[in-house]
Amino acid sequence: MRIVFVASEVLPFAKTGGLADVCGALPLELEAAGHELLIIMPYYKEVGTKPSFNDRACVDTVGKGVKVYFIKNKAFFGRSSLYGENMNDYPDNLERFAFFCRETLELLKDIGQPVDIIHCHDWQTGLLPVLLKDPYLNDPFFVQTKTVFTIHNLAYQGVFPKEEYAKLGVDARFFNDGQVEFYGKVNLMKAGIVFSDYVTTVSPQYAKEIQTKEWGCGLEGVLQERKGRIVGILNGLDYERWDPGHDGFIDPSYTPQDQLAKKIHKVKLQKISGLPVMSDIPVLGFVGRLCYQKGFDLVASSFEGLVQRPIQMVFLGVGEKKYQDLLKKLARNNPGRFAVHVKYDEDIAHQVYAGSDFFLMPSVYEPCGLTQMIALRYGAIPIVSGVGGFLDTVFDFVSNKKQGNGLVLPSYSVSGLLESVDRALGFYNQKDKFAVMIAHAMNCRFTWAEAVKHYIEVYNECRS
Ligand code: ADP
Ligand code: GLC
Repeated sequence: MRIVFVASEVLPFAKTGGLADVCGALPLELEAAGHELLIIMPYYKEVGTKPSFNDRACVDTVGKGVKVYFIKNKAFFGRSSLYGENMNDYPDNLERFAFFCRETLELLKDIGQPVDIIHCHDWQTGLLPVLLKDPYLNDPFFVQTKTVFTIHNLAYQGVFPKEEYAKLGVDARFFNDGQVEFYGKVNLMKAGIVFSDYVTTVSPQYAKEIQTKEWGCGLEGVLQERKGRIVGILNGLDYERWDPGHDGFIDPSYTPQDQLAKKIHKVKLQKISGLPVMSDIPVLGFVGRLCYQKGFDLVASSFEGLVQRPIQMVFLGVGEKKYQDLLKKLARNNPGRFAVHVKYDEDIAHQVYAGSDFFLMPSVYEPCGLTQMIALRYGAIPIVSGVGGFLDTVFDFVSNKKQGNGLVLPSYSVSGLLESVDRALGFYNQKDKFAVMIAHAMNCRFTWAEAVKHYIEVYNECRS
């Protein structure tokens, strides 16, 4: 099959979150499974200099022979960030990503080899399936082309004022409440859901959740209508990139059989975080975007209780000013107990995964989550809320003894969080048992090879 990935961020070229990890890893696995892959993304400033392919795009290669095309437009993509600056989205995001979708289709025609599947990701690519209905409906180049639309995060929908609809360049009739309109506005996530041949999301549990009023972000009805053409496929982790046995960011390496180096990493983490070096105190780590989704409101309301426990905490993240300020204040007021690194930093991220005993992720919702999988791989036991992809990857030591690899909050509340931390400390204090738990966590696998099987089924279903 000839498959094109179209996404607004792709590793190793540009990343703000897990979308980039997925769009960097999955195409390579599909290539390994014998398919022909292309990737198309915007030519952002941070991509660096790449050889030109034509007036429309530059090009590079990843994996064995996956061509990555970067859509050019200096005014739209030559900016310092991907989506916005100073906590504000760029005001012309509709135009930027509509341009990206249109140029992607034209580029495919320039390349000249018809494709079977265009796999779109999140709202930035939601227009693309619409374009195939107008103006490309009768274009012979796309007769065999089907579209798959993956929802990575339903909360970010690409909603714009109706006055901007004309800039999309599609039939005015699509602006109705069964298609691109959403409460009088343009909704590009909805467009992708309605117009694609198949919708996927990034975990089975999230696929169920988004069809309910509680988690559907207003699109539950639209999603329910597409039932039967929606599936949740659990993200995998790139176990070569995330491997404490061979990790260019951390030294020394360690394995499930020989975890001694974890102590060294804890000390390093304490040092770089300005925390007192205490090899025996349990450290709770966090790495992620600082936004509502990741549960900092619960962390804040639980904080008084948390600092009464014999623990240290290290958080790494960037994001909303509100949460940056909150975490900085907590760190100022609790020196020696809580440290925060407000930045995007691969190096520190690896150090947090390697040096933490536990990994705290009390997300309000979580489509899949990669950080808990990374934490498991590095032997940092996850403490997670019982939502979304967490329920497909973290199994509670107590309620699911057989598979147990972490702790799941019994309720989304201060008492639920503190109870989980207390249970975690109980395990930590049983040294021998805890080492076995860590070894088990490190051996858990959520592979891309497994996900690929399901994606191929979806692609085949589209074509049948
Ligand atoms: P989301 O996509 O919601 O942001 P995921 O758990 O799917 O969450 O993926 C987050 C990815 O981004 C992980 O690879 C994580 O290590 C990385 N990451 C997030 N914040 C930072 C940061 N401040 N520094 C380094 N890596 C980060
Ligand atoms: C989104 C979600 C996250 C998921 C990632 C990759 O950003 O918030 O849960 O892991 O996409 O699919």
